[in-house]
Amino acid sequence: MNKQNFGLVGTAKDQLVKRFLARRDSQPEPAGGMLRSTASNLVIPEKFCRFDKFPGYERIALPEAAARKLGIENPYFKVHQGAAGATALIDGKTYLNFSSYNYLGLAGDPRVNQAAKDAIDRYGTSASASRLVAGERPIQRELEQAIASLYEVDDCVVFVSGHATNVTTISTLFGPKDLIVHDSLIHNSAFEGIKLSGATRRAFSHNDPESLERILAEIRGNFERTLIVIEGLYSMDGDMPDLPRFIDIKNRYKAFLMVDDAHSLGVLGVTGRGIREHFGVAGSAVDIWMGTLSKSFAGCGGYIAGEKALVQHLKYAASGFVYSVGIAPPMAAASLEAMRIMLAEPERVAGLRERASYFLEQAKLHGIDTGLSSGHAVIPAIVGSSLKATKLSQALFEMGINVQPIIYPAVEERAARLRFFIGYQHNLEQIDKTIKALAAKI
Ligand SMILES: Cc1ncc(COP(=O)(O)O)c(C=O)c1O
Repeated sequence: MNKQNFGLVGTAKDQLVKRFLARRDSQPEPAGGMLRSTASNLVIPEKFCRFDKFPGYERIALPEAAARKLGIENPYFKVHQGAAGATALIDGKTYLNFSSYNYLGLAGDPRVNQAAKDAIDRYGTSASASRLVAGERPIQRELEQAIASLYEVDDCVVFVSGHATNVTTISTLFGPKDLIVHDSLIHNSAFEGIKLSGATRRAFSHNDPESLERILAEIRGNFERTLIVIEGLYSMDGDMPDLPRFIDIKNRYKAFLMVDDAHSLGVLGVTGRGIREHFGVAGSAVDIWMGTLSKSFAGCGGYIAGEKALVQHLKYAASGFVYSVGIAPPMAAASLEAMRIMLAEPERVAGLRERASYFLEQAKLHGIDTGLSSGHAVIPAIVGSSLKATKLSQALFEMGINVQPIIYPAVEERAARLRFFIGYQHNLEQIDKTIKALAAKI
């Protein structure tokens, strides 16, 4: 058996070989035509040999230096000394915390912790290899079956990272003869997957089904497969799409619809089943359900749920699954337990909804620009400049409130903001205190 490709995975292997050949063929000829350089006569500018000369690094280092001059502290990489819930322990001090998407308060829940510990005792901390080659643990399949039943679809496959789930799924399923149309505010992970796929990419105006339909009416016919990518709850703005309208469009244009449910799972729907439950649509009405385990489900990883052929295809051909380790047993156990608790304790979902809509209502009453937020867990306070957002985040931190600035290029400069993640563990008093501080400093 060929150890390089396990002698098993025809499609995945073909894709890798195709990519290798394409990359090799796109290498430029050595300078000077066929005359090859030797190490002694090579003249390579310094900027091509040093990490600190990478343009990407310079783009990071310059604003950092400027911020230091202005006396602004780096708001990133703060060290939390415990689980991040409504409060966080940072540098020995307790802060009100709005920077983590522990929506249902289950990261740190003793039952979730215990499930992870039991899985460690039984299976160890790592799956130690790709599931396809080395085999799997029952807990991994249990989690997948539970997610599939949550969506009422055939099956599910779990990956080790939510980001990698989007990258590998989109780039495995779609290629250069295909069209991918996505919401203009789609998450980076979907965007990277689209780029890697080589498909033709078009963005439609945010949350605008008519804009999507105009694109499809014009060019759908020029392509083989078409994928539409939207989110269940948008992670920057906290608004949601009119899912039934997108389903109607995808049906009429014979396209596939992919919904990234990362922020809607555990948040939307009476029992937290996400945007599907919110609109009461059948699981099979959407072709590709994607989600992450790192938010409401207190773990780490991502999933794709849908029909059998989709899941089977990814399990044998998606490089992010075939050539990557299986989800760690304690992570699978933690997310499975978090899901069980979510379904058994719907008061968590209801409580989250109450707190988030209270936050939105109070923010609006205090004249804060909350943009498009529908008041479900993600609520921005738009301040209009990256510098202002960074300074505001620092001012609130000094008042005992931890909330991250979202600045250019993550959003347009004029849309720079603080982004508040609301969780079930926040209480109304904490929200009042935060809104008051925000209104005073904005
Ligand atoms: C909409 C969306 N999709 C995918 C991801 C990636 O998920 P993860 O952080 O679990 O890798 C994120 C991360 O925040 C997200 O917001």
